[in-house]
This record gives sequence, structure tokens and C-alpha cells, in this order.
Amino acid sequence: MCGIVGYIGHRESSPFLLEGLRRLEYRGYDSAGIAVLGQNGLKICKTAGRIQGLVDKLIDTPLAGTVGIGHTRWATHGQATEVNAHPHHDGGSRIAVVHNGVIENYQSIKTTLEGKGRRFYSATDSEVLAQLIGYELESVEPSADDPYRHLVTAVKAALDQVRGTYGLAVVFRDYPDVLIAARLGSPLVVGIGTGENFLASDASPLVGHTDRIVYLADHQIAVVTADRLDVSHREAGQVHWNAEAMPINAADSGLSGFDHYMLQEIYEQPTSLENAMRGRLSEEHATAVFGGLNLTPRQMRGVNRLVLTACGTSWHAALVGEYLIEELAGIPVEVEYASELRYRNPPLDPETLLFAITQSGETADTLAALREMKRKGHHTLAICNVVGSSIAQEADGGIYLHAGPEVGVASTKAYTSQCVVLAMLALYFGRLRHMSFDAGLRIIESLQALPAQLEKTLEVNDRVKKVAERYAHCNNFLYMGRQFNFPTALEGALKLKEISYIHAEGYPAAEMKHGPIALVDEHTPSVFIMPHGKVYDKVMANLEEVKARGGPVIVVACEGDTDAARLADEVIYTPHVEEFLQPIISVAPLQLLAYHIAVLRGCDVDKPRNLAKSVTVE
Ligand code: F6R
Repeated sequence: MCGIVGYIGHRESSPFLLEGLRRLEYRGYDSAGIAVLGQNGLKICKTAGRIQGLVDKLIDTPLAGTVGIGHTRWATHGQATEVNAHPHHDGGSRIAVVHNGVIENYQSIKTTLEGKGRRFYSATDSEVLAQLIGYELESVEPSADDPYRHLVTAVKAALDQVRGTYGLAVVFRDYPDVLIAARLGSPLVVGIGTGENFLASDASPLVGHTDRIVYLADHQIAVVTADRLDVSHREAGQVHWNAEAMPINAADSGLSGFDHYMLQEIYEQPTSLENAMRGRLSEEHATAVFGGLNLTPRQMRGVNRLVLTACGTSWHAALVGEYLIEELAGIPVEVEYASELRYRNPPLDPETLLFAITQSGETADTLAALREMKRKGHHTLAICNVVGSSIAQEADGGIYLHAGPEVGVASTKAYTSQCVVLAMLALYFGRLRHMSFDAGLRIIESLQALPAQLEKTLEVNDRVKKVAERYAHCNNFLYMGRQFNFPTALEGALKLKEISYIHAEGYPAAEMKHGPIALVDEHTPSVFIMPHGKVYDKVMANLEEVKARGGPVIVVACEGDTDAARLADEVIYTPHVEEFLQPIISVAPLQLLAYHIAVLRGCDVDKPRNLAKSVTVE
């Protein structure tokens, strides 16, 4: 979703701002802009569409100056037009603001300011911040002993009036040696340089410029000059800040021989699984070992219920986790959409442990659900990929995925890493309870074999591409699986719809008879995920029902399954693995299927329309 960059120092700011915005592209956006302060005053350049459009504009009319802010916008209030793109100004071009988040009461502030004669030019909620700060600045006097105090006073006065969330950066035409930033609910980091300082909504734009970063916390305001950073809390005053080391893997290392990040990340999965398991499997104790749960084994043993909360693909991983943990550890698990959990009031006893599952660690709904559960006194843990993200920082403990940056908007490697972490958790909880040493060891062996099995699974790519060529023209797909592979059906359908814009539905296979079977016709392929296992025969019966109604059938089955080959129109084989680990393997052909269909339909695979990598609004 929206991204922020800022620079103040001795160099021209535009190159850093543009490079930084490119590094934030993966978050998803639909317009972009920069504001630069130089000898010619405060100048703004914006565009609807891609950053390249902004770069092209700046070739014709470059913006010179050593202070600047930039933004990629993902439209919430107001269309994705140039006028609605950030930075916004106060009407008189005395200040410029970039803002991530949502100002909920923008309409009433706008009406009040309009009543006082201020003219608004955009349809955004963010413009009220620029106008309000400009308005407040008119009534504060500069202080003799602190050149920036009145600027902070004006920003603070404006923030006191808004309701909502913000990560924001402000530059002032008449104060070209300072940049002010503030955060509430939307992340911001300051990069500490030498004679220059940087600002960004996550660490990735700062890689290569500094390895010292300061994470701003909610309610903090930062005054950033070329050689100084002052941080204060809106109520509590001056804050002592500490710079942390740049997280390893904050940088996107680029495409290495693949056409798209999504395909590269699909192929990275054997390695990302290894990374998720590295150092976490103990053959000596036949269990999994996690360093950061911040609970003793005795406290963990006392947990009598787990709530797994997440959104989207991460929610599908949570469903896989539910099957795994209930099967292997016998602990009741509830999976909740974070967006629902935050407003529900489920009766949960104190021994309930919450896991928030998230790739980005910034998903607004997941963060809000975590805070709500924390407020109720539950211990909260995160299963998260991005180090130092808001959820990673706010949870009481957690497990990092170590999957490396995921750039493709459609999540792939983070999903399989989440599933493998949940499998290790199931082993851990199982071994705290009834699971024998031998059973634990067998699970460890199965987990250790997974990366090689996933590597082998990916050899189906050419076969999947052929299947894609045959069905890419279809406008509806059904995905069916049962038990451990019910979430796989949901995930396969989500992958297809988000990157190829084809309508797809995932169902537990037996539910088909209760409605979706009405959709079956010769133009609607049904994808059955049916590796060997307890429910194989049942799913086979559902497959026959679809065949009997003339629907094309694509099957993901275990190697050597001749029955599936006989009945299906297309079979994609995967290696045999333990039933409970099959979701980690059988999702890979579905990721590839979605990928190839999207490419064949000419879709922008890594940046699908309307989607954002990191969903930081409700
Ligand atoms: C789909 C996808 C999204 C995310 C969801 C949650 O491919 O990536 O559905 O899974 O927006 O994001 P995180 O995991 O960052 O909380």
C-alpha cells in the first residue's frame, strides 16, 4: 500500500526519492509524486500510474534541492488521479505533506476549514493534514531558542484534531533545513547517515544508504535535519532513541533470471522452507525449538486453546495450522479473520494463546486484532516474515519465517513458510503433551525431507504450463480439496483470481453438492487436489460427479495415481509425502497454474490491479 520516502542532506534528493519509491513499488500503488525544496522554493511533481511516468516528467522538468519527500499512493479516498496523488500542499505551497493511513474525520475538518476560507483541490483525506498544519502554522510564533519548536507545535496541533492513522512527513518552504515526521498506526523509520538522514515507511529504500535505522513508535514526532534527529512523544515529551542495525534481507536482491518475482519466489520455496526450519528441529529431544516465544515450557503446557488470526493467504495458512495442530497436538484451534476478530467478543479463557500470522507484519486488521487480544490480557505471538515490522514489535514474542523479501504481490513462499512453521508448532505442542519421542522423530524426518520434495514438485512446471494453455480462456474455475487440502483449494482459487482476474472459488470437495455443482459445465474447469490419504475415495466420488456433468477436471495427485489419470482430463503429479504435510507440496502446482494463466492472459503478474502487498488500512 502507500509508501513514504524522505531525504535531507548534502546531496540532490530526487535520485534517492525516486530510487526509494521504486523499492516501495512492491507494496502496491496507483500514483506517485515527490516534493523537493531548493533554491526555487518548494516544487511538487506528481503522476497517476507508474513511477516511470514520474521519472519521465522529471527528465523534462527536474526538481533540484537537497531536501525532499516522496510517496506512492494506493487510492482509498478519491480516485487514482494526478491531483489526488501526494505530496499535498496547504493551498499556498508553503508546506508539503505525504501521508500513509486514513484520516477518518477528514470530512468534518475539511468543512470547518472551508468555512474559514481555505480552498481544497483534491478528493483525498490526506489533504486535510496539509491544510490543517498550514492553518495551525499561521497562529504559532517562532521561538527564539528553538528554530523548529513552532513547526512541531503546528504539526502536533493538527494531529490532535484528526482521528485515524498516519505515518506522515512534512517539509516547509520557509524552513529548508528540516523535515518533520510523525507516526500513529502506520510505520516510519529514520535512517541515520553522515551529514544526511533518510526517512521511509519501511527499511527497504534505506538499504545501501545507511545500516543504522530508528523505528518510530506510535505518537512520536521526529524532527530530522541533515545531522540531527530529535524524537518526542506527543504527550510525554523528549524520547531517547536508539539506532538498530538494518535487518538482514531488507533489500530486494532483484530478479535473477526469472521474468517475474512471483515465479522466482515460487522457485525459492525449497530454500525458504530450509531457512524456516534451520536450527529449529532438535533430533535430541524429537521436537521443535523456538527462541522467541517468551513463555516457559510450563506456561506453554498450560495453553488450552489457540486462536490463529490473519488475512488472505496468511489466513489460509492459519487453516492449515488448525488441521495440523488439532491432529498432531490435540489442542483446540480457532481460525479467525483478523478483520472479524477485532470487532467480535469471543468468550476465551485466559489460557488462550493468540498467533497473528502475517507476511508483512503491517496488515492493519491483523495488527488491530493482536492489540485487542493483548488488551484483553492474552499472550500474543506473531508468525511474521518482515523483521522489525509493527506486528513483530508489538507481539509478546514470535517466530520469524526467514523467507527473505517477498516482492510479488501474490504471496507464495511466505505461505509455504507459514505452513511449515505451523507444522513445527504442532510438533512442539504435541511433544509437550501426548506425542511420543518416536512419533516426534518421524515428523522431524518428514519435515526435513520437504525442501527436496518441493524441489521435485516444481519439475511439473512445463506440464502445468501446458494445462494453463488449454484453460487460460475460461472465466470460471472451481477448486476442491478436503481436510488438509481444503485450505489448498482456497489458496489455489485466490492465487488465480488475484493475478489473472478469473473468477475462482475454493470449496471443501464434499460441499460441492450443496451449491457449487450448479456451476459445473463444459467451460468451468474443476481443480481437484487429491493426494493419497484418508479422504481420497470420497474426493474421487466428487470428481466423478463433476465428470458426469461434463465439467473438465484437472487433478493434482500423487505420482503413480492411475485412477486419477484415467478419470481426469489433466493430471499433475506430486511426490508422496505424509498426509499432514501435503498442503505444502500440493499448493506449488496451483501457484504455477495461476502464474502461467496470468501470463497467457497478459496480466501484470507482480503488480495485479487494485491489490497492495501490505494492506495498512482497515
Ligand atoms: C494474497 C496475499 C494477501 C495477503 C494478505 C495478508 O496473495 O498476499 O491475501 O496474504 O493481505 O497479508 P500479510 O500476510 O502481510 O498480513
